[in-house]
Amino acid sequence: MKAVRIYAYGGRDQLLVEEAPVPQPGDNDVLVRVVATSVNPVDWKIRAGYLKDMLPYKFPIILGWDVSGVVESVGNAVTRFKPGDAVYSRPAILRDGTYAEYIAIDANEVAFKPATISHTSAASLPLAGITAWEVLINTAGIKAGDRVLIHAASGGVGSLAVQLAKARGAYVIATTSAKNSALVKSLGADEIIDYRAQAFEKTIKDVDIVFDSLGGEIQEKSWQVLKPDGILVSIVNPPSAEHAAAHKARSAFVFIEPDAAVLTELARLVDDGKIRPIIAAEFALDDIVAAHALSESGRAAGKIVVHVGNP
Ligand SMILES: NC(=O)c1ccc[n+]([C@@H]2O[C@H](COP(=O)([O-])OP(=O)(O)OC[C@H]3O[C@@H](n4cnc5c(N)ncnc54)[C@H](OP(=O)(O)O)[C@@H]3O)[C@@H](O)[C@H]2O)c1
Repeated sequence: MKAVRIYAYGGRDQLLVEEAPVPQPGDNDVLVRVVATSVNPVDWKIRAGYLKDMLPYKFPIILGWDVSGVVESVGNAVTRFKPGDAVYSRPAILRDGTYAEYIAIDANEVAFKPATISHTSAASLPLAGITAWEVLINTAGIKAGDRVLIHAASGGVGSLAVQLAKARGAYVIATTSAKNSALVKSLGADEIIDYRAQAFEKTIKDVDIVFDSLGGEIQEKSWQVLKPDGILVSIVNPPSAEHAAAHKARSAFVFIEPDAAVLTELARLVDDGKIRPIIAAEFALDDIVAAHALSESGRAAGKIVVHVGNP
């Protein structure tokens, strides 16, 4: 099969499009023929070696952890899926990934794809959607009426987080640059802060939940907008417990795992018209270097999808 593999950590020149063996599904696995995948920042962070102490890989590695595709075959112990089913997944990060024509995935990490959207759109959802859910629902316990600040609202995660928070009845304040403010407004944000023109920490207050997808200085400035007992949840760097205590706030760090139950919930929200995937750009698997370059620029508005096979 065609796959993109890396044989060493490094730059985009490590991404090799080549022939690789089709994976053999284990008893609990589903072999998925990949129609589309997407690029997430974690892909190039792993490629560059930034996560090598946390994630012990053996080379070569097939990167990519979002897939929408069709079940090709199932392991002996799998009863929930059959060949021909349209599925999507954010598979386990330590197994070979989705920049390939086939991937073997534990059936517990697979869900039926949303019926009303294409594989292209579905491939954009799993990793970013599970992240938005894990932060807002499982960690922050979002409820109707909460004031929620979502940083980088035009990003892959942010564009879904805004819609999920709105679907839960929250009041959403979103940071974005002017060029993406119409997009973010269209996702349902109640208040937009153009981060290049306004200091968010001087503009808003009494926030229940800060969704931090930027870290660093933005995270530091975010404490002051929280209500007492509000929560800052970061997906980038663990927040300081001391700073949380000084602001009488709570804090959490999230690094997501596969979650098929959440994918099933997300599929329902998509099919009910409550969430729509936002696609920034589409690439062929052969153009994976350009797809990484766009993700690394930090400027993509929505998700970067990569086409792999026919629907
Ligand atoms: N811990 C986890 O499990 C987990 C899961 C998913 C993602 N992540 C991490 O979360 C981060 C975000 O991921 P992503 O996929 O959403 O990234 P992304 O799609 O690449 O984010 C790009 C967006 O960020 C916006 N942006 C950049 N700087 C900004 C600023 N100062 N203020 C407001 N918006 C800004 C850009 O908008 P403009 O062009 O308008 O500036 C762009 O639309 C990454 O570091 C990723 O690795 C962690």
